[in-house]
Parts: sequence; structure tokens; C-alpha cells
Amino acid sequence: MKYTVGIITLSDKGAAGKREDKSGPAIREMLENDGHFEIKEQQLLSDDRAALEEALVRLCDKSQLNLILTTGGTGLSPRDNAPEATLAVADRLVPGIAEYMRAKSFEITPKAMLSRGVAAMRGHSLIINLPGSPKAVRENLGFILPTLGHGLDIMLGLDGECGSD
Ligand code: MTE
Repeated sequence: MKYTVGIITLSDKGAAGKREDKSGPAIREMLENDGHFEIKEQQLLSDDRAALEEALVRLCDKSQLNLILTTGGTGLSPRDNAPEATLAVADRLVPGIAEYMRAKSFEITPKAMLSRGVAAMRGHSLIINLPGSPKAVRENLGFILPTLGHGLDIMLGLDGECGSD
């Protein structure tokens, strides 16, 4: 069984056709190389908060995707809405995922403090905000990828055991 995934790139410039989206494709490539994921949806949206909330609700409730990864919109600009939209639709928080991404990222750049990304669940879907640059995507997703499957298995009721470590 492969985990079903939605990828959402958030970028006003990208949605207006003024910037090529390299971050969504970077996520796709990493997940395809991993082999445990099937990308069901990939979207490029503007930074509009309401549109993201709508997309998240649809991907969680209607498409019932196991994992939704957003990229972009986690910073401090007034148009960075990914954390707020995610929290607005969430029913449970998973703080450790964002904590781990930031902790590991600090080893690479202090600019990691500028990502406000969160991770949360809505029903049986896990939503994770990644920062926007392809570099930041590769680094952050690389940190969590080895442990994501275990979390998804527990969320989906496929594994109740955490083993000895
Ligand atoms: N995390 C890692 N690992 N590597 C990076 O290059 N860039 C940071 C940060 N997190 C970065 C990172 C920068 S420069 C910003 S502004 C924030 O993510 C927010 O990015 P966003 O607004 O594109 O989501």
C-alpha cells in the first residue's frame, strides 16, 4: 500500500505565471524516489488564505488523502497564510514535526527561525507546511521523510506499536 498525497505550492507569483514552480516538483521527486507515496493531486495556488482552506478541506474530507504537503507561505509576509489556513481546518496538532524540521534546519541556516510552518491532522489526513524555496523543501522534507511512514501508519490505524526506540 502506498500513502496517498496531495502537494500544494503557495505562490502569488507562481499562480500568476510569473515564476516557475520548482518546489512542488521537488516534493514530487523526493516522494517518488522514496517509493512509499502516490501523488494524487498537485496544485499551484496563490497565497490566498480562503482558497487554501478550501483546498485542504477538499483534499482531506472528499479525497481522503493520507498526507498533504504545502510549500511556501510560512514566512512573515502579510501574504504568508499557510500556518493560519492549516490551523483553521485542523482538529489536532502535531507540533513535533515542525519542531524537528526547525531544529535540524538551524544546523544549516538561522533563517529557519523565519518559517512559521505547522503540522496538524484533519480526520485521517496529515497536513505539513514546508517553507517555499526548493532548497528549503529538500532539506525539510529530507529530515522528516524517514519517520513519516511510521506516523502515517499510526494515524491510519495500521500500526499501534512504536517498537523499542
Ligand atoms: N529551512 C531550511 N532548512 N533551509 C532554508 O533555506 N529558508 C528559510 C526558512 N526555512 C530555509 C528554511 C527562509 S529564508 C524563510 S523566509 C522561511 O523558511 C519561510 O519561507 P517561506 O516564506 O517561503 O515559506
